[in-house]
Amino acid sequence: MLHNPWQRHKDLISIHDLSPEEVEALFQLAANVKARPDRYRTSLAGKTLAMIFEKSSTRTRVSFEMGMYQLGGLATFLSSRDIQIGRGEPISDTAKVLSRYVDGIMARTFAHATVTELAKHATVPVINGLTDLLHPCQALTDYFTMREKFGHTKGLTLAFVGDGNNMCHSLMFGGPKCGVHVRVATPERYRPKPEIVELARADARALGTTIEIFSHPEEAVAGAHVVYTDVWASMGQEAEAAERLAAFAGFMVTPALMERADKDAVFMHCLPAHRGEEVAAEVADGRWSVIFDEAENRLHVQKAILLLLMNR
Ligand code: CP
Ligand code: NVA
Repeated sequence: MLHNPWQRHKDLISIHDLSPEEVEALFQLAANVKARPDRYRTSLAGKTLAMIFEKSSTRTRVSFEMGMYQLGGLATFLSSRDIQIGRGEPISDTAKVLSRYVDGIMARTFAHATVTELAKHATVPVINGLTDLLHPCQALTDYFTMREKFGHTKGLTLAFVGDGNNMCHSLMFGGPKCGVHVRVATPERYRPKPEIVELARADARALGTTIEIFSHPEEAVAGAHVVYTDVWASMGQEAEAAERLAAFAGFMVTPALMERADKDAVFMHCLPAHRGEEVAAEVADGRWSVIFDEAENRLHVQKAILLLLMNR
C-alpha cells in the first residue's frame, strides 16, 4: 500500500476512534477485496495472527482464520482455557510475549479493559473481536452491508430493537461515521450505557446525524431502512436469560413490525439468532433478511482491516 489511510492507527478497538474518511477507505478496500480476492493472495505472506478467545465464536473465529489464509498468512486459535492467561498470567506479559511471535493479535474477551490492556502492551496491532462493551468488526461489516444493499449509507435510518448491548453500542458509534441516523428501542432497564450514548451523540451532532432512544419498538422502526436486533442475553449473561426473556416481551421483530419500516427495509442480525425470541422465523428467513450476507461480509471487511493494520 503506497499510502495507508489507517497509518495513524496501530489497533482497531472501537469505531469511535475512526474518522468517516477512514471508515470509507475501509469500505472501498473491502469492496475491492470482495470483488478481486485473487489480487490480495500474497499481501500478508509470512505474517501471522494470534486469536485469543475467552468466549465462543463461529463467525469471528472462522472468518479471521480463513481471511488470514486467503491473504497468504497464518492464524492460530488460542482459547483462554488453554493458554496461560486462563491461569493468571498477566495480560501485559501475554501481549509482550505474543508480540515477539506474531504480527497481529485478535481478541474476544469479557472485560473491555482486557482488549485495551492487550493493545497498550502489544507492539503489534490488536483487533477487538468483541468485548462486553463493543463489537466493532461486526458493526463495520453491517454498515458495509448497508452500503452494498442501498448503494450508499448517507441519510439512512437504522432501528436497533432489543438489548442496549455491545452490538447496540458499536452500531451507535458507527452511525455518525457513515451518515446513518440510529434509533434504539429497549426496555428502560436495558438501555445502552449513558457514556456510550453521550459519545455517539457528540459525534452525531458534529457529523449531522441523530441518535434517538425509545421505549417502544414501533416508534424506533417507523420508516426505518434497517431493522436490527441481537440476542436478549449476551455471552456471559446466561444466568439472566429467564429474567430477560420476560423483560423483553413485546420486543420481538415480527412481520407486523417490519411492515412499519420503509417498504424497502432490510432486516439485520449479527447472529447467532434465537428464532421465536428476539426475531420471528418469518423475518429471519423472510424477504427482508440479509443476515447471511452480513455473515459473509465479515470475511471481506476483516480482510481489509487486516490489510490496513498489518500490511505495513
Ligand atoms: N456475530 C458474531 O460475532 O458471531 P460469532 O459469535 O459466531 O463470532
Ligand atoms: N451481543 C452478543 C453478540 C454475539 C455476536 C453477545 O455478546 O453475545
